[in-house]
Amino acid sequence: TLNNDQQSIAQVFKGTFIHTPQFGQIEILTNTVIGLDHQGTIIFLQRGDLNIDHLQLPTTVKVIDLSADPLKFFFPGFIDTHIHASQYPNNGIFGNSTLLDWLETYTFPLESSLTNPKKAELVYSRCIKKLLSNGTTCASYYATIDAGSSNLLADLCLRLGQRAFIGKVCMDQNAPDYHVETLQQSQFATMEVLEHIKSLDSDLIKPVLTPRFAPACSGELMTWLGEVQKSEDVHLQTHLSENDKEIKWVKELFPDSETYTHVYHDHGLLNRKTILAHAIHLSDSEIQLIKDQQSGISHCPISNSSLTSGECRVKQLHAKGIDISLGTDCSGGFSPSILASARQALLVSRHLSMKSGDEADKLTVNEALYLGTVGGAKVLKMDDQLGLFKEGYRFDCQLIDLDVDNIDVFDWQFPSEVPISENVTKYDNLIAKWLFNGDDRNTIKVWVNGREVHSS
Ligand code: GUN
Ligand code: FE
Repeated sequence: TLNNDQQSIAQVFKGTFIHTPQFGQIEILTNTVIGLDHQGTIIFLQRGDLNIDHLQLPTTVKVIDLSADPLKFFFPGFIDTHIHASQYPNNGIFGNSTLLDWLETYTFPLESSLTNPKKAELVYSRCIKKLLSNGTTCASYYATIDAGSSNLLADLCLRLGQRAFIGKVCMDQNAPDYHVETLQQSQFATMEVLEHIKSLDSDLIKPVLTPRFAPACSGELMTWLGEVQKSEDVHLQTHLSENDKEIKWVKELFPDSETYTHVYHDHGLLNRKTILAHAIHLSDSEIQLIKDQQSGISHCPISNSSLTSGECRVKQLHAKGIDISLGTDCSGGFSPSILASARQALLVSRHLSMKSGDEADKLTVNEALYLGTVGGAKVLKMDDQLGLFKEGYRFDCQLIDLDVDNIDVFDWQFPSEVPISENVTKYDNLIAKWLFNGDDRNTIKVWVNGREVHSS
């Protein structure tokens, strides 16, 4: 595979690459070389041979060689499949509220204030930078109901180099007077944002239709969004089955639909490019419907603990064959970090296991990291280009350094390729230390499409 036109090689990375090709499995690629083309696509991956002299690369090719540094490794960029950029200032501010009073008390006032473009620019640029510094190379965003603010979020992601899905929030009922649209306003603003994102003509930025959740959307609005999704072949995201009171409310508002999930299906919103956040209190028929429609789920464990919403049955959904990933759900969730969300997913799964008495409900470290990378790529239906180190894939990557004060690695824990037991290598233990003790201090460089977008 090294017979590529040498002129097309733009950058070379040498060192240890770690990723999760299968749910539960981690692959450690030591002594590995990866080459990128000028578009940031991986054009070769060579294991066990760090010598690149025979490639006779032009001197303009940038080489990053970390093969001498045992505590540094490359990891795929995290994918956050559910985050409200507009709620970023409220991270950590939720009191003892639960979903419906949280929306009224904290969330709607903040979101409506972002029609002020100066405030929106400040909030969005800080949010994007914070995600990048935490290794999130791709995010599926909710902006606000305002087209201007949503277009600004798209512009800022493009400028700062983050891969992003941009959602203008749609809500035409059951919302306060100061933060609601008519059906026509919602349709008009949605088309305005779709057109704006098309005009950016960027491979990084894509639109995602965003009916907020069933209670806030009329049947007409949902049906129209389903038709737009089909005709434009774009993604769609919404919230599903997060909170008991919300579920009861949906039953009252849509008495003709069998379940909450069926409300979306009955309005044509469930298909393979649909991302459903939370999905906590699902019946078997709802799980089957999601599976049949090939929609994906964003598990938001920090939000679900904070707003006392419940525990999503991640292992069961995955065993059913449903694509599942992680979302920070800022500011239902207080942390912008997918690493922290993976850690919380692991803890929530243990609480679920204590209740169910079923050991199979517990997530492992490798499974949690899969959800934050490959799982995200699958939910976004981009697993043919994101989430792994592989020829033809985009170089969306974070460089992790474990030799930072927040993690103490002892000399007998230094990595070696000799397994310490039949099933565990020293790398497995280092990865666990990263998951449980790590944070943005360990994320020292981040790339999207081969472009460096963060360095500390
Ligand atoms: N349901 C409707 N809107 C929201 C929101 O902004 N966050 C969360 N977590 N759930 C919602
Ligand atoms: Fe949310």
